[in-house]
Amino acid sequence: ATLLIDGSPQSGRKMPDKLFGIFFEEINHAGAGGLWAELVSNRGFEAGGQTTPSNIDPWSVIGNETYVTVQTDRSSCFNRNKIALRMEVLCDDEESNACPAGGVGIYNPGFWGMNIEEGKAYNLALYVKSMEPIDISVSLTSADGLQSLATANIALATLELSNWTKVELQLEAKGSNTNSRLQLTTTKKGVIWFDQVSLMPVDTYKGHGFRKELFSMLADLKPSFLRFPGGCFVEGEWLRNAFRWTATIGPWEERPGHFGDVWMYWTDDGLGYFEFLQLAEDLGASPVWVVNNGVSHNDQVDTSSILPFVQDVLDSIEFARGEPTSKWGSVRAAMGHPAPFELKYMAIGNEDCGKKNYRGNYLKFYYTIKAAYPDIELISNCDGSSTRLDHPADMYDFHIYTTANDMFSKVHRFDHTSRDANSPKAFVSEYAVTGNDAGTGSLLAALAEAGFLIGLELNSDIVEMASYAPLFVNANDRRWNPDAIVFNSWQHYGTPSYWMQHFFKESNGAMLHPSVLQTNSSSLIASAIIWTSKEDSSTFLKLRLSILGAIT
Ligand code: AHR
Repeated sequence: ATLLIDGSPQSGRKMPDKLFGIFFEEINHAGAGGLWAELVSNRGFEAGGQTTPSNIDPWSVIGNETYVTVQTDRSSCFNRNKIALRMEVLCDDEESNACPAGGVGIYNPGFWGMNIEEGKAYNLALYVKSMEPIDISVSLTSADGLQSLATANIALATLELSNWTKVELQLEAKGSNTNSRLQLTTTKKGVIWFDQVSLMPVDTYKGHGFRKELFSMLADLKPSFLRFPGGCFVEGEWLRNAFRWTATIGPWEERPGHFGDVWMYWTDDGLGYFEFLQLAEDLGASPVWVVNNGVSHNDQVDTSSILPFVQDVLDSIEFARGEPTSKWGSVRAAMGHPAPFELKYMAIGNEDCGKKNYRGNYLKFYYTIKAAYPDIELISNCDGSSTRLDHPADMYDFHIYTTANDMFSKVHRFDHTSRDANSPKAFVSEYAVTGNDAGTGSLLAALAEAGFLIGLELNSDIVEMASYAPLFVNANDRRWNPDAIVFNSWQHYGTPSYWMQHFFKESNGAMLHPSVLQTNSSSLIASAIIWTSKEDSSTFLKLRLSILGAIT
């Protein structure tokens, strides 16, 4: 095959500045137990539900029932998360009724083991209450409790008794173990309540709470936008379990957390709406906020009753963009970000186009948001690539999960889409080869996706943005395969689809030059781009050639 390229300056067409970005969904423990560096899982003991007694999973008890009993009650000092843990210690430090060596108490293994590293510091915060003087040992240990990595003591003085007291201390690790746990133990008889126990590594990206090596994987893709927080996670199986931004902001200990019923796990919502906006800013990416439009997988709000939902979304915009003196802007400022975030893109719902109330609800959101914030680009869930949308939108969402052959053939998917200047542009916000061709990640899948992306570049006069899905998977909780980045508590790697995206990271705002591929093969596709490096103003030419089933 021969590739002919016209590289003359006047022949190039500038591609959109935001052509390639990333889509973060709270799926596969991408955030809780993933990018969000919090090491304690179920830190407020709420995951077992709001009724008591409830299970405290993954917390476990150290010591049998003759020494210690543990149950949940509703005595927390936090109104939105009333559950606390009540631990009654029956043994003592006296010989007649002695506690086992090492004491009794509780431990948390984090998300399939905590990665504790020698020489690193960890911030512990917890709330504790008791009626009598107490002495608690805090320790980081191996999974069997035998290897001690760090220890500290908490003693409550008589003055603080009966009140909830916040304790904060720093633990420095004297050893390493990738499968560690946090223990709270005592050898003293009495009743102790615990609530909101957090253990954060001091060393997170800019101190913003993001696990550094996973953040780097994202930053290396040079994403121009960050779509968040889902996906189906935004919708929920039921509306009561959908992502509600107001429950995810403010002090971490006051957040109720919620059970994501699509991907079937609890999240303490440490990675909340504010943190997503912060993540986008840290990545130099534009946030794309996907909002629930009153539609879940199984229930829907009638358009006649949708206004409170619309107001809630307007409030979320004020939180992101409002003056620090405004109602919601002041909450953001109190969280440490007085300057507004640059929120310019919002998607109204996720994959909801076919649902009964979608269009009605959509229009209420669309017109109200546009009236208040005309510069925000609004994205519809309805596919406008083959037929004109019957409602106004700045962009329409397009999702594709398919086989390698089919993905590769979709290089032409947008060739015949209307070029009418008034038509909304495409946002391919989820694409991936799935099934047997992909497994948990394959070169075949990546090559087919590369072909598809070349097609998007060639059609980037009407395709504005695109992102792969899903982004992350914790190898201990594979809810969806394949994914771009695989990790556990201490390791990570990019699948071929990750590195495929890496190969396209210079496309945003680059010049696409006309190229002709002289070949008899229909499984060969190419594009040529020229871009100037921001670092040293050098100019580069990059050719992309993808052939299905072979590496070129
Ligand atoms: O990316 C995984 C899921 O696929 C998303 O949550 C949803 O939007 C799509 O169906």
